[in-house]
This record gives sequence, C-alpha cells and structure tokens, in this order.
Amino acid sequence: MKKTAKKIIDFKKNGKKITALTAYDYSSAKYFDRAGVDIILVGDSLAQVALGYGSTTEVTTEEMLVFTKAVSRGAENALVVADMPFMSYQISIEEAVKNAGRFIQAGAQAVKIEGASPYIIETITRITQSGIPVMGHLGFTPQYINTIGGHYVSGKNIQSTLELADMAQNLEKAGAFSVVLEMVPQESSNFITKKLTIPTIGIGGGKFCDGQILVSDDILGKYDNFCPKFARQYSSLKDIIFNVARAYCNDVEKGNFPSVAESFTLDNNEAQKLENYS
Ligand code: KIV
Repeated sequence: MKKTAKKIIDFKKNGKKITALTAYDYSSAKYFDRAGVDIILVGDSLAQVALGYGSTTEVTTEEMLVFTKAVSRGAENALVVADMPFMSYQISIEEAVKNAGRFIQAGAQAVKIEGASPYIIETITRITQSGIPVMGHLGFTPQYINTIGGHYVSGKNIQSTLELADMAQNLEKAGAFSVVLEMVPQESSNFITKKLTIPTIGIGGGKFCDGQILVSDDILGKYDNFCPKFARQYSSLKDIIFNVARAYCNDVEKGNFPSVAESFTLDNNEAQKLENYS
C-alpha cells in the first residue's frame, strides 16, 4: 500500500525507524521499493551523481521533473518526495506553490525544501495549505553552498543546536511532515528529535534520528568523485559496471559476441537460397 506523509509521522509515534534513499531512475526506484524503503527522495544530488554537474545549484526544475516522473513510475509503495531545486521556490511564494504542484503532477507525493528563514517558513506554510506535504531540510543545506562557503557540520555547540531546534519547530508549525538533519552531531540531533512530533531523518545526523537517508550512489559505490564520512558503502557498483563493460568490449572485439543463440536465423531452405544467390 502506498505510504503517505501521515503514515511517516505515525512511524515516529510507533517507534518504527524510517528508511529513506535517493533514486533517480525507474529501475532503482522499483527495487528500492520492493526492498521496503519507506521514502524515496528524488534528490537534487542527481545534479552531481546522475548529470555530472559540480553542484546542486546547477540542476533545473525541468530536469528534476523528468527524474521525478521516472522514479514515481517505479515506486509502488514508497512515498516519493521530490527535491525542489535551487531557484524553484526562492523567487516568490506563488512560483514556489506552482512549482511544488508541478512535482505532484509529475507523480511525487511530497516535496523537500531547504532552510527555515522566515521567508521559507511562509513558503512552506502556503505549500502545505495547498495540499502538498513538505519535508524540511536543516543543518548542511547544499543549495546554500555559495553563502555557507563549504561542507560544515551544524549544531556544534549549545547555541547553534538551540537555533537548529528552533528552526525545526518552526518547520513543524508551518506544516512540514518531517525534517532532514544533514551533518549534525548525534547529541544535537537527539535533542532536536525529542523536541518534535514530526520525524527527523538523518544524513550524517547520527543514530538518534527517527530515520536515515543516504544517497543511493554512495551506498552502491557508484559515484567515486567524493564519498562523505557518513555514507556506508554496501557495494562497489563502479567496479561491477567497469568489469561488465570491459568483458563486453572483449567479447565483441574477439568475435565472441553475439552467439547464434543471441541472433535471428533463417530456416535452412531460405539460408540455402541466399547462399546460392550470392
Ligand atoms: O539531494 C539529496 O540527495 C538530499 C539528501 C538529503 C539525501 O537532499
């Protein structure tokens, strides 16, 4: 059965840890869904891992919509959340609501928005009021990389932890159904998690969050330009892909592919006629 934003909140109430992964294509979404992943995020991390851009700020709404459609077709049970890309919600609240709607029409059941400034809180309020569930995102927020200036841990002392907790509570009041905590010390995440009735989903946020999310290319070992400290690599897909492509080239070059079984053949009569003709 399709998971809903409300069901994700219930998971926190019932003490069930929430599982989340990013996906960018139909097949991956299908297998993550079959494996029981609760939330599939069409993360704007696809900018780097699927499109080869340098940062998430380069991916557009039009590009994100294509990936959202593909993932939505593959996810039967998981809640599909689409990341709203840089500049799709910062220009005006009207434009933010309109763009959020486009992601829902593309097949997602919710959108994710980074930050918690007063403007973002107002934006999230309006989007949730229009019937679109919103996931918040605090701590390290990659879309703000040009103002933050680097990949820094947030909530490293009591003052900044209290500020984060305040922002998380404002997100909850604005109607967000969950909050991603990225690169936040586990003690600080624990403090914030206890202050909220909506779940926290950690990425580099430690074990006390209500759920965990990772970039699928990191756990699969597919993207090797950079692997964050908090990502656990369960496979080395890049080696598998490389070895498969090498074996294929080898077979073609040596004339070992295709075999007869992998080809279409004429029946004997037609083959003979063709032979005589030449
Ligand atoms: O874009 C992304 O992949 C994210 C992370 C929270 C997983 O936002």
